[in-house]
Amino acid sequence: MAIKTVGVLGCGLMGSGIAQVTAGAGFRTVVLEVNEGVLTKGLARVEKFLTDGVAKGKVPEVVKTTTLANLSGTTKYADLKECDLIIEAIVENADVKKAAYAEVEAVVGPHCLIASNTSSLCITELAAATSRPDKVGGLHFFNPVPLMKLVEVIKALSTSADTHQALYDFAVAIGREPVTAPDRGGFIVNRLLIPYLLDAIRCYEGGLGTVEDIDKAMKLGCGHPMGPFTLLDFIGLDTTYFIANILFDEFREARFAPPPLLKRMVLAGHLGKKAGRGFYEYRS
Ligand code: CAA
Ligand code: NAD
Repeated sequence: MAIKTVGVLGCGLMGSGIAQVTAGAGFRTVVLEVNEGVLTKGLARVEKFLTDGVAKGKVPEVVKTTTLANLSGTTKYADLKECDLIIEAIVENADVKKAAYAEVEAVVGPHCLIASNTSSLCITELAAATSRPDKVGGLHFFNPVPLMKLVEVIKALSTSADTHQALYDFAVAIGREPVTAPDRGGFIVNRLLIPYLLDAIRCYEGGLGTVEDIDKAMKLGCGHPMGPFTLLDFIGLDTTYFIANILFDEFREARFAPPPLLKRMVLAGHLGKKAGRGFYEYRS
């Protein structure tokens, strides 16, 4: 079955980037949001990324034009009815994702595949909530999606070999570098990355150094493109908090437990770059 039309659920940090790369690769892409305000903001993020790319000489003007022509936004599930693949990139909460899949299944055809971009949730659990567990898998992208090549392709216990292959081939078709990852909390990258980021917060709380010095040390001492606090702000502290709780629930290991400061920053609304304030302050 050829994938022609892609639906993306969520036009936040990840959904906007995913929609950009699928539309940019020539797939008709419909991105769905909860309301017009968030949708407009998400689509503006795509346009800005492309405009910046043109200005930097990285994106040909024609690619910007065709990407935007292939992309449309909606707040109505009915507009996803032609989709051959749904990529879900909404809040990291299993119940919210399952409810969205029920809405999707009410409109799409029986052939339509569903892939979650979850960072840490059990894909087998998400698949089991649908009427098509063999057609559900994981496509885990990295932030910022247009610049990060990796996609983890996750096979749930119920995912058929055909679905897994179709998702893997799709990742290649949109110019990504896929790896197959197991359906275990955090897959490959977040299993290793999240404990490191949580440890950085614990070290800061323990007085190891300032946020700026710890970031500088890891950048210049290890050649990381971003220090841990810049990266935490970039991922989103709410998303990191949800992931930590899910991984702690899965493995019951202290290294996955969210540090008290992370919880308090989320409660205070200091969610990182997207909120204008996290470990650092940002001006829009
Ligand atoms: N369009 C096209 N290309 C662009 C662009 C745009 N709008 N903006 C920048 N670029 C290009 C630049 O021209 C540059 O290209 P060259 O390398 O060929 O020169 C490249 O992208 C890097 O851009 P910059 O030089 O402007 O910025 P940078 O060097 O600071 O890199 C970054 C930016 C790629 C984001 C880098 O800081 C980085 O890799 N950070 C770490 C990101 C990371 O770890 N992400 C994973 C988060 S975890 C996750 O996603 C999983 C999860 O579930 C939580
Ligand atoms: P975000 O907060 O930036 O965006 C989530 C968007 O989903 C919001 O705009 C929200 O309005 C929308 N949304 C919520 N419920 C919805 C629904 N029922 N239907 C449609 N839209 C809905 O979050 P994000 O960082 O883009 O994360 C989204 C998913 O991607 C999460 O599962 C997260 O774990 C995963 N992820 C995040 C990163 C990252 O670095 N932030 C990286 C990889 C994967």
